[in-house]
Amino acid sequence: MKKFVVALFGLKIWLLLVFATLFFPAYTAEAERIEAAPTPTPAATAADKTTRKTSEPYTGDLSIFEDAERAKNLQIDRVMDLLGIGEKKTVADIGAGSGWFTVRAAKRVGNEGQVFAVEINQEFIDHINKRAKSEGFSNIKTVLSKPDDPMLPANSVDAVLILKTYHEIAEPVILMKKLKAAMRKGGLVGIIDRDGNGADHGLDAATVIREMKQAGFALKGQYDFVKPDNMDYFLIFE
Ligand SMILES: C[S@@+](CC[C@H](N)C(=O)[O-])C[C@H]1O[C@@H](n2cnc3c(N)ncnc32)[C@H](O)[C@@H]1O
Repeated sequence: MKKFVVALFGLKIWLLLVFATLFFPAYTAEAERIEAAPTPTPAATAADKTTRKTSEPYTGDLSIFEDAERAKNLQIDRVMDLLGIGEKKTVADIGAGSGWFTVRAAKRVGNEGQVFAVEINQEFIDHINKRAKSEGFSNIKTVLSKPDDPMLPANSVDAVLILKTYHEIAEPVILMKKLKAAMRKGGLVGIIDRDGNGADHGLDAATVIREMKQAGFALKGQYDFVKPDNMDYFLIFE
């Protein structure tokens, strides 16, 4: 009887060892696979931090963005056509300022669309909220963002315009990587800026293209119709 109990105990140990050998590697492989899965907004690496000069974010009078000739000079309708901004679309205006572009995009997308007015400046956010109310727009949502994060929901945006703002973005590559995660499939990002060295309220197009590529975007189009003096450029990325 004693021998039988000892044999049974030995058999149990043996079965336990066989079970552990067969199933434990599978369990650890599964745990590693889950940990290695990509995250929607990967952590910034040291190479993503900018080392070039950027401009101080504008904090002055907002009326300068409301010039009566601006829509005509910028050909803003042509800009919106190229970005595919139409009925029911979701658009983000990053660095929205007075909301000049926000309200134009809001008219285009209609009541079933939405425009995110993204700003790091709380006073400008308050201004856009008042403006949206007084002009009767219920499809504008203001977003108080961070210098390195547009704070937009994942997979939510069809088109973005970054108008005279890119040169002010303190951490462009980190912000654009986060923006990439906010884009819907086929979404487009437009950047209008002027030539410069980063610190003088402009930045050369080649640097913008290089940084956008680093953030995972591909250049889709390059235009110079947005200003007759040839200082401004309009880039489209997807
Ligand atoms: C020169 S203004 C242009 C305003 C507007 N886009 C226009 O052209 O009418 C730049 C705006 O970008 C905002 N800004 C700067 N850095 C930003 C960032 N990282 N994210 C969002 N907004 C930013 C500033 O607060 C400022 O209102």
